[in-house]
Amino acid sequence: MRGVRTYETYMAVLEASLSHPTRKPDVIVVTGDVVQDESREGYEHFRDSLADCGVPVLITSGNHDDPLMMSEVLHSSPFEVDRCLRFDHWSLIAVSTHLLGEDAGGLGERRLASLRRSIAEHADQHILLCLHHHPIPMGSVWLDAVALRDSAELLQLIDGFDNVRAVTCGHVHQASERDRNAVTYFTTPSTCSQFLPGSDGFALDSRPPGCRWFELFADGRFESEVQWVETSGHAAA
Ligand SMILES: [Fe+2]
Repeated sequence: MRGVRTYETYMAVLEASLSHPTRKPDVIVVTGDVVQDESREGYEHFRDSLADCGVPVLITSGNHDDPLMMSEVLHSSPFEVDRCLRFDHWSLIAVSTHLLGEDAGGLGERRLASLRRSIAEHADQHILLCLHHHPIPMGSVWLDAVALRDSAELLQLIDGFDNVRAVTCGHVHQASERDRNAVTYFTTPSTCSQFLPGSDGFALDSRPPGCRWFELFADGRFESEVQWVETSGHAAA
């Protein structure tokens, strides 16, 4: 895509993160746009890449995904589609913001109500919420036009709880971190090419593929940093 061999760059990020010298993941979170062409073969390649990773893979769908096909191909372990994963002190909740035929995202009343129930059911846990579309504007006109439409409703929902610590999303192909009412909102670089931060129109950044690490502590604190992965598959971007 746009001169980037996306399977190669994705595999390079996966291999670099799984062979990190000092870190080992307890869970892998994939915040959507797994397959651009909505092909079953694309999801099968993705499934095969993580089938033996040894940890749960929490996943939600993005605007480029086919959620039904994704659920069909990723129906068994280690994949958990739009689920809540409970660990010792933290629960990770993935919720779909996919809207059929739209690049923008939305939750709608049904998914908002379900999310409210999930957070309430884990009131004794710290929560990391995982979405595809960004609820906080990026300051980039073209990306903010395809953001989460009902972000006001989501932010109001989050404000109603005191245990949501962080929200992380994909979609915007860049790293960012913003604090709002004691909750930190992250975005994570893509495993293919990145978009230029602050650009009013579509523009690519020269940054390499990447992923984001979270370290979650028992008392609700957390640390996060991006791992950028230099790879030959990215050379043409
Ligand atoms: Fe997206």
